[in-house]
Amino acid sequence: MLSDKIDGTVMDSAGSNLRGIANFAVGYNNIDLQAAKHRGIQVGNTPGVLTNATADIAVGLILAAGRCFGPAIANVQRFEWRNWEPLMFLGQEFEGKTLGIVGMGRIGHAVAKRMHGGWGMRIVYTARDPKPEAESSFQAIRLELDELLAQSDVVSLHCPLTDQTRNLIGARELGLMKPKAVLVNTARGEVVDQTALADALSQRRIFAAGLDVTTPEPIDRTDRLRSESNCLILPHIGSATEDARNQMAMMAANNLVAAMDGKLMPFGVTK
Ligand code: GLV
Ligand code: GLV
Repeated sequence: MLSDKIDGTVMDSAGSNLRGIANFAVGYNNIDLQAAKHRGIQVGNTPGVLTNATADIAVGLILAAGRCFGPAIANVQRFEWRNWEPLMFLGQEFEGKTLGIVGMGRIGHAVAKRMHGGWGMRIVYTARDPKPEAESSFQAIRLELDELLAQSDVVSLHCPLTDQTRNLIGARELGLMKPKAVLVNTARGEVVDQTALADALSQRRIFAAGLDVTTPEPIDRTDRLRSESNCLILPHIGSATEDARNQMAMMAANNLVAAMDGKLMPFGVTK
């Protein structure tokens, strides 16, 4: 699972017969690919089948964080709802606003498709290479990260965790965002500097954050983000649909069967 760190020591402890490692996830930052390659061990993942499920969770977090679902639900649960009030739980609207996609891969594309088609959002994005399909389908514009942060009303993270993306969103980057912006992370917790995010949220320097991923997982009991009312946190359920998890299980199993048979994994990770 993505929560299992698989390094060279783990590989060696499995003995010399180990032929394949099948991650039950699309992200594979938990596996030391160099160590696997060095030992002739195949590594596989589960791309594609969780794209829609994860994009839906990102959209849900955009709406839920932007419309204060966290404190609003708590209000009813604590039986504090007294009246309809003109200024109670005021949130943001998204129609016609700008959505910044950090990492226009499969999931980023699916979120852009939803928010452009459904909410008419203008799409800007970062990616290592231009994405012609996003540019033609939703007139997406590729920007440098700083410019994306300055222009976006919603910033949604969809990059893999690598040495280049660790702490990509820190104090400086949060400072570039609009005061009413919503930050959503369905990628990996380590992409965001959580201390800087807690500062930005508590000082209302951004409007809200919606997180499906944290560092560590589960998040520490004492983490300040747990008590910020404008921070909505889910327990890493991006791919948690029956459809996605069944397909992920089949892919992971087929990857292992192939490796056992001495064949190439159908969904191998090459690098
Ligand atoms: C989930 O986070 C995955 O990478 O599949
Ligand atoms: C809200 O419920 C309204 O009727 O404006």
